[in-house]
Amino acid sequence: MKYKLKGVKKLEGIVNISGSKNASLPILAATILNGKKATIYNLPDIKDVKTTLKILELLGCKVDKKKNKVIIDSSNMDKYTVPHDLMRELRSSVILAGSIIGRFKRAIFSYPGGCEIGARPIDLHIENFKKIGINIEENAGYIVCNCDKIKTAEVHLEFPSVGATENLILASILSDAELTITNAAMEPEIVDLQEFLNRMGAKVYGAGTNCIKVVGVKRLKEVSYTIMPDRIETGTFLAMCAATSGNLELKNTNYNHIIPVLDKLEEAGCKIEKDKNNIYIEAKKRLRAIDIKTLPYPGFPTDMQSIFLGMLCNAKGTSVITENIFENRFKCVPELNRMGAKIKIEGNTAIVKGVRRLTGTEVRATDLRGGIALVIAGLTANGYTKIENIGFIERGYEKLETKLTKIGASIYKER
Ligand code: EPZ
Repeated sequence: MKYKLKGVKKLEGIVNISGSKNASLPILAATILNGKKATIYNLPDIKDVKTTLKILELLGCKVDKKKNKVIIDSSNMDKYTVPHDLMRELRSSVILAGSIIGRFKRAIFSYPGGCEIGARPIDLHIENFKKIGINIEENAGYIVCNCDKIKTAEVHLEFPSVGATENLILASILSDAELTITNAAMEPEIVDLQEFLNRMGAKVYGAGTNCIKVVGVKRLKEVSYTIMPDRIETGTFLAMCAATSGNLELKNTNYNHIIPVLDKLEEAGCKIEKDKNNIYIEAKKRLRAIDIKTLPYPGFPTDMQSIFLGMLCNAKGTSVITENIFENRFKCVPELNRMGAKIKIEGNTAIVKGVRRLTGTEVRATDLRGGIALVIAGLTANGYTKIENIGFIERGYEKLETKLTKIGASIYKER
């Protein structure tokens, strides 16, 4: 499937932000732990969530999708092997390892393939699993985990990995151990996971700081929970508005989760107002070039890097964007240059010389956020832009065409 966009379009109106993909995946994994029902509200209807629900069903959970909620019953869950093909489809399903081990004290999963934005190894997960008493064997591409009991430990993450932080928390919830994680990731999605777990009766403290403590418990109870808003979808619509000199009101979001993004948009010349759940943005004229450096939270998020690349193609001046988290996250650059952008890569830095206008052509998405960068370029380009491989984009954005059409874009799907 392809997207076909017609530029040049100004975006104006109201956008309702969906639930967070990156909070949904670890929270869905955590539903395994209570061996009872978990009712989740505000789950985004996106491919990565559908894939995770499919894996939960394959593991023996009962998944009941209602209009505005999903009920997962893990009481009859009886498998602890994550199917290889689904592991490859969704690298972040490695997060299920922690919760399966947490429930069954064993898990089998395959080494997640290097993904479109770099190797993304799981060495930090593996080496720290060993420190809390999990025996790990690797053979024929499968990782076999066994553990008599989770050990009390203090583990220091060499890098504040989001996934490794989440996996260690999930593995230690049901235990009689105490786990302290230092140099933990501080992303808001980890705070959401902690809220969910503690609502089930777990004892997790410190999420949002670089030191997290888990005091193991014996059992957990049924739970209902509402997923936090998606901060990257929020940043995406803000960047789309900025690139098209539009004005938007974003509802059901949380501006506290994307302060560095708001600061950079103001530096580029946008007017931003905000209250608890809404953000208003106005971009009257051509953006000013800005410099970006991605960092772990609370720094500028790596997931917004490609999106800002797409936004800054026709800014006034030269922008310098440095990617410090992933080693291969500029794959959308050759596609943007085919549309007339002037971007040069030097190591982990992209130098974006602003041009007056891009020209629509045929391009292909290379990954989730790189794909949405092409959508932004297509909104601002003269003529038609066709984007192939939109499956990448549908992994992370709910009802994208509907939301964009409502605010003035000309976008539709074609074979
Ligand atoms: C999470 O990925 C997010 N995914 C990513 O969002 C996000 O970009 C990333 O965190 C950083 O914020 C989900 O939450 C599902 P990491 P994760 O472990 O957990 C290296 C999106 O577009 N690393 O913090 O995989 C790794 O290679 C996605 O929504 C190791 O070296 O990220 C990377 O360079 C993309 N060894 C860096 O750390 C490990 O064992 C950050 O990875 C683990 C990670």
